[in-house]
Amino acid sequence: MTRVSLVCSLHSIALWTLCWVSGEETAITAQYGKDVTLTCIFPSKFKISFHRLSITWTKEGAQGQGLLVHRFYLKMNWREGQEEAYRGRTQLYPQEFPQGNASLRLSDVRLQDEGSYLCNVSCELGSWSQKISLIVLSTVPLPVPR
Ligand SMILES: *[C@@H]1O[C@H](CO)[C@@H](O)[C@H](O)[C@H]1NC(C)=O
Ligand SMILES: *[C@@H]1O[C@H](CO)[C@@H](O)[C@H](O)[C@H]1NC(C)=O
Repeated sequence: MTRVSLVCSLHSIALWTLCWVSGEETAITAQYGKDVTLTCIFPSKFKISFHRLSITWTKEGAQGQGLLVHRFYLKMNWREGQEEAYRGRTQLYPQEFPQGNASLRLSDVRLQDEGSYLCNVSCELGSWSQKISLIVLSTVPLPVPR
């Protein structure tokens, strides 16, 4: 009996940590046409089972809805429901997950990529999320004086 309640209380501590601690909103600047890494670092002091780990990146749409940028679960990347505009341009780094790194690589940055992103990490212990705002700088090439 003692053992059961200990397991339960440890479980609720872990739940509390993952559910209530959410990352600070950060801003990342990207150059038009280049690649960018949207940084998302989640608390990983509790051993999270890789099998149950789910990482979802969404972008806030015009009506406040979440547009699917990238989804990873059951140890795989899933294309279903992914926004057309992000197809083939996103990548996660599974080898970094055990260190609590769910950063997303976005290639060939477009002006429309600018906006607010949400990195959502969930597992059997609860979920954790962080907002990242992306600013895209476009440098219009000036004519070279002759
Ligand atoms: C997260 O992983 C990416 C890809 O390997 C790496 O570039 C970045 O430095 C990592 N961030 C941290 C804080 O470890
Ligand atoms: C993150 O994902 C979990 C599981 O899908 C969900 O319950 C939770 O509401 C999501 N959090 C946010 C902030 O979207």
